Amino acid sequence: MPNNEFGDFQTPLSLALQCLRVMGLPAAARVLEPTCGTGGFLQAASVVSPGSERIGVEVQATHARRASQWGTVLRQDIFSLRPDQQIQWRSDGPLCVVGNPPWVTSAELGRLNSGNLPVKENFKGAKGLDAVLGGANFDVCEYIILKLIDAYRDQRFALGMLCKTHVARNVMSHAAAARWPMASSAVYRIDAKKWFDAGVDACWFTVEVDSRRRADYTTPVYDDLFAPDARPSSRFGTVDGRLVSDIDRYRNVRRADGHCPYEWRSGLKHDASSVFELVATPEPATRAGRRLDLEPEYVYPFLKSTDVFRDKHRVLSKWVIVPQRSFGDDTAQLRYRAPKLWLYLLDNSLILDGRKSSIYRHRPRFSVFGHGPYTYAPYKVTVSGLHKEPVFRLVAPIERRPVVLDDTCYFLPFTDPAEALVVTAMLNSEQCRDLIESLVFWDSKRPITKKLLARIDLRQLGCDRGQTTAIATSEARRLGLTFDPDAVDGLFADASPELADALF
Ligand SMILES: C[S@@+](CC[C@H](N)C(=O)[O-])C[C@H]1O[C@@H](n2cnc3c(N)ncnc32)[C@H](O)[C@@H]1O
Repeated sequence: MPNNEFGDFQTPLSLALQCLRVMGLPAAARVLEPTCGTGGFLQAASVVSPGSERIGVEVQATHARRASQWGTVLRQDIFSLRPDQQIQWRSDGPLCVVGNPPWVTSAELGRLNSGNLPVKENFKGAKGLDAVLGGANFDVCEYIILKLIDAYRDQRFALGMLCKTHVARNVMSHAAAARWPMASSAVYRIDAKKWFDAGVDACWFTVEVDSRRRADYTTPVYDDLFAPDARPSSRFGTVDGRLVSDIDRYRNVRRADGHCPYEWRSGLKHDASSVFELVATPEPATRAGRRLDLEPEYVYPFLKSTDVFRDKHRVLSKWVIVPQRSFGDDTAQLRYRAPKLWLYLLDNSLILDGRKSSIYRHRPRFSVFGHGPYTYAPYKVTVSGLHKEPVFRLVAPIERRPVVLDDTCYFLPFTDPAEALVVTAMLNSEQCRDLIESLVFWDSKRPITKKLLARIDLRQLGCDRGQTTAIATSEARRLGLTFDPDAVDGLFADASPELADALF
């Protein structure tokens, strides 16, 4: 039975064998397996490289005892261990640090009330590592990998770790920022569901650290650890200090990787859908079907990312209550200004006052957040943050009311429909798709982020003016909007700077 506090998922021998074969474990290697558990990698090393010297580190006594049949095992906490100083080797073959550290986050350990966490420590002058540790949430596996690379980076060594794919990316980003001597690296995807019954994107991540070779912060991605000779499907890495998911695709669109001239916004968050979200019958009604008579200026048509993604953004299916104009606004005056709404909120105060997020603490009662003047803009160019395809939709008023979007959407607010139409066409262009595809990591929980969108420099996309206006014209027709293409000249890179300044 896996013990989650310790990220206790032992690696099957056949998987560990393949990992070590792909990495090319040398004959007389010194093999270190941190968090070795029952010694899956030590055992595999004894098969692949029988002449190797093997040392494991494991905190749980029963596991450590079992692992010791494959090498020397120190029963110790990896967090307090100084591997480069405390581990004594008898041989001097090439050093290989391999294994499968726990795949837990500090937040998950916090929920389990676990103390199995690193304490703040002195890294070898590696700026930023303390920041990883000091962050609100970090992956324990990422921390262990960084710690080991930091400990041994003055010597030549190889590292191979089973980890979540985003951990491999974070490690490479950190290495690039800290200029660690990564001579080469690779990611080989594994089927984590099959091997560990875990629904995450995971890989065998290998690195060669060697200060005598030129540092390389790009990483080829192989789609299957068991087909390591196939061509890599992509290469991610840091280009001019920026993380890129597909370096080859990025080359052609790199010019447009800059700053979006508009500010991307995220939608409304309220943490009480049963109270704030109302069914459109079409009048607002509770989920139980009770029609609600509320002051209309506090109730807006509401869309979620799935509605936007599935092209259901022109249909009224939900309403949402927005009790304040902007985040932090006083709500006490609702008692007088909107007595019907006030009574409804009071009726539901048990749910509303019980909301857990700290954002509501010391805020006006019944607060929501993620809103401001932009929330009421009539036109919004919107994309879902959750779906695995970048589809941008123009959301226009419904029932002559501006539509409010939920917090799984990102959007640009507009008052001019023509500008919104052209921006939508540009964001859906092939050039923009290429840029997004070269930056996005689809395996992330929220692949499209505000940070990514803010990198799209619309005017540098090189969109064809004629084609863009033709697409905008046909979308205007579909949405029943009027469209004057001359009004949005400034959106194109060849526009006069004055006109462009006037627009952005
Ligand atoms: C994912 S399992 C992998 C075990 C082994 N490396 C393998 O591949 O089969 C993680 C192991 O880390 C050990 N572990 C967790 N926290 C640790 C710590 N602070 N110090 C040392 N080992 C730890 C757990 O007991 C568990 O055996």
